[in-house]
Amino acid sequence: MSSSELTAKPVVDAERAGSVRIEQVTHQYGRGGEAFTAVGPVDLAVPAGEFLVLVGASGCGKSTLLRLIAGFEQPTHGSVRVSGAEPRPGVSAGVVFQTPRLFPWRTVRGNVDLALRYAGVGRAQWPERRAELLARVGLEGTERRRVWEISGGQQQRVAIARALAAENPLLLLDEPFAALDALTRERLQEDVRQVTERTGRTAVFVTHSAEEAVFLGSRIVVLTKSPGTVAPDLPISLPRGDVDAEELRNSPEFAELRAQVSHAVKAAAAACTPYTPSGKGFDP
Ligand SMILES: Nc1ncnc2c1ncn2[C@@H]1O[C@H](COP(=O)(O)OP(=O)(O)OP(=O)(O)O)[C@@H](O)[C@H]1O
Ligand SMILES: [Mg+2]
Repeated sequence: MSSSELTAKPVVDAERAGSVRIEQVTHQYGRGGEAFTAVGPVDLAVPAGEFLVLVGASGCGKSTLLRLIAGFEQPTHGSVRVSGAEPRPGVSAGVVFQTPRLFPWRTVRGNVDLALRYAGVGRAQWPERRAELLARVGLEGTERRRVWEISGGQQQRVAIARALAAENPLLLLDEPFAALDALTRERLQEDVRQVTERTGRTAVFVTHSAEEAVFLGSRIVVLTKSPGTVAPDLPISLPRGDVDAEELRNSPEFAELRAQVSHAVKAAAAACTPYTPSGKGFDP
């Protein structure tokens, strides 16, 4: 063993690029008598490389939690760390918001190029990278169109291309496929699953769909109704890597997990029902 290996500081997982650590986080909107607790207290550790899916009823705090991880909101109490440090908005993670936040006066090309510039990609590589990203989200041929000239679903796909451009070790995606047709949604789900796996990126993905959660997640966390706290935390043991997506979606294991997640979301929304980690569902 070399001397540098002996003296090297061990890489604790919580400091690895892309890891997320949320400790005793509470988030309130408003102040004083108007204060409303949207999230917490939440403790959640996402190891580097994990694909964590957050599910839960509308209003239970999923987007708030994602914005806290992205650094766009500061927790009222507790701490959020990304790659071992305080999250820096726009830097620590590639983010796809629930509604696309593009520069409306720019073209599709202008929006993607800006992301490539922020990601530090050399200008000479922009055309190739841009074409690759737009093809990935099925937007070939739209480069010159202005954002207001494309549909809501197309705008969301530009936002996805932009988040992928950053090649960030952490991707935060807030219901990115909700506005897309079923076919495009399935294709992009397969793409995001593959891209994150191939590149070892960490993902935190919000969805209302049990089907989407099971297909994408290596772990699923259900948030209880507002204020959101973590209810069941389900590891998903479906095969990853080079899998036939169609076969996976049609497997009995997939169907069983989908039913389990769907049940968990309903129960968490209704009340903080005790959960049995045996995987058999909820105690009455
Ligand atoms: N900027 C804000 N100011 C005040 N309250 C807010 C703000 N943003 C969200 N909230 C409230 O905090 C709670 C959680 O909102 P959040 O958007 O995180 O929920 P969500 O789980 O993402 O819901 P959905 O599934 O509908 O997107 C809701 O009750 C919402 O009304
Ligand atoms: Mg939301």
